[in-house]
Amino acid sequence: MISDLLKKARVYEADKEKTIDDSERPVFHLTPRVGWMNDPNGFSLYEGKIHQFYQYYPYKTEWGPMHWGHAVSDDYVKWDYLPAAIAPDESYDNFGCFSGSAVETRDGKQMLVYTGVKTEEKDGEEIIRQTQCLAFGDGYDYEKFAENPAIDASFLPEGWSPVDFRDPKVWFDEKDDCYYMVVGDRTDDGSGATLLFQSESGTEWKFVTVLDRCRNEYGKMWECPDFFELDGKHVIFTSPQFMQARTLEFHNGNGNIMVMGSYDRETHTFTREVIYAIDHGLDFYAMQTLKASDGRRIMTAWMQSWESSKAVPEGQKWFGQMILPRELNIRDGRLYQKPVKEIESYREGHLSYREVDLNGSTTLPGVNGKVCDMEIEITPNGREYGEFRIEFHADDRFHTDFIYKPSEGKAIFDRTYSGFPNDINPKREFMVRYNEGKLKLRVLLDRFSAEIFINDGETTCTSTIYAPVDAQEIRFSSSGSVLMNLEYWKIKVR
Ligand code: FRU
Repeated sequence: MISDLLKKARVYEADKEKTIDDSERPVFHLTPRVGWMNDPNGFSLYEGKIHQFYQYYPYKTEWGPMHWGHAVSDDYVKWDYLPAAIAPDESYDNFGCFSGSAVETRDGKQMLVYTGVKTEEKDGEEIIRQTQCLAFGDGYDYEKFAENPAIDASFLPEGWSPVDFRDPKVWFDEKDDCYYMVVGDRTDDGSGATLLFQSESGTEWKFVTVLDRCRNEYGKMWECPDFFELDGKHVIFTSPQFMQARTLEFHNGNGNIMVMGSYDRETHTFTREVIYAIDHGLDFYAMQTLKASDGRRIMTAWMQSWESSKAVPEGQKWFGQMILPRELNIRDGRLYQKPVKEIESYREGHLSYREVDLNGSTTLPGVNGKVCDMEIEITPNGREYGEFRIEFHADDRFHTDFIYKPSEGKAIFDRTYSGFPNDINPKREFMVRYNEGKLKLRVLLDRFSAEIFINDGETTCTSTIYAPVDAQEIRFSSSGSVLMNLEYWKIKVR
């Protein structure tokens, strides 16, 4: 049975008058069908398709009572919209269906696991409760579980928050033949933790353990956790609120971290070894991964930060984008990220420049536009150089800059001149491992963003950009002589 609220959303988003033309959207980054999008939800495989649900408010380009939008793909690049999956239509989720995940059940259904947020008035005060709820479906229509919520605050350790208890990430574990789920909560010290729950049936859950805790060291609430094995390590991905800047690794506000360690499956003990940021750009949050059928661990994320979520040019018809999904690996204790290989089949118009002797500023014939994929290699030509810089989404007035300063072992991303109507902090500096002045870049530009992969994806920098459509130039410069190799392709999806 489809509720009136869900029907309303489905009718609204399918209305021809509301349709947003492809020419007004990014080319290869998923945006909401209409209205507002935040976190990726239910990024998973089901019946041969890649499913991507998302936090969704169809009626405005602002956050509102959360629904789940829905899209499917065969290759992580080209997406087709399906009707909204769930709406906040029950007493236990009347304030919103917050973030969550999806898994295929033993009996072939698609199970959505989400946070139901409930508000009610008690003695003149508004009380908020967050619980974990289920919905079952066929990849298109979903029915909420009759016994929702499946997990409420009574499952939590004494003194932990029933208000900040959210964002379940579920998976099926073949070895243990059961379902697991990690959920974020705010603990008795006021900061976050990642909790593990287990279920034989998928509907009856029990609390297992606390995998790791923030202890007020890395922000406060830890939102949107994920937990998985990667190349012999175990990692927690989570998005802390209220981070405080530390060295060049962490910035203020909503951050993204990877907690890497080891995991004893028998006792469910996670032992932390190291924590660092996953992406060093300005817009990257709420990561979620899936395991592809060929074994790749693939991550998506909201290509946005809450801090700049109001900085949108007037008249834009949609709000919120996902990153192009990335393949993840760990080598020598570091996370490596690269764009899904499927993007390569959308490349066309290949141009190749070898050993361009760069000293000062230049453009290269044919190397321009807002939607492209570039592989760049820089080597010092004889002596050390001061800096190497690329400016893109550029014209006389606008430019977005990526700058590398080898002597400082540091990179800078600067979108001061990228068309934002308000953006208090348009710059980010971060460390890049020194490699004798050599630098390798993969740069993916889309109409409203740049994703930069540095030194084979050892460091990444992701940000939205709102320079006008005709800011199409790409400029290269260096102070001191460098040799540049460049491979360039346009990306065409539809
Ligand atoms: C993260 C988040 C989640 C929550 C959702 C609400 O961006 O705050 O913790 O479930 O957004 O839309």
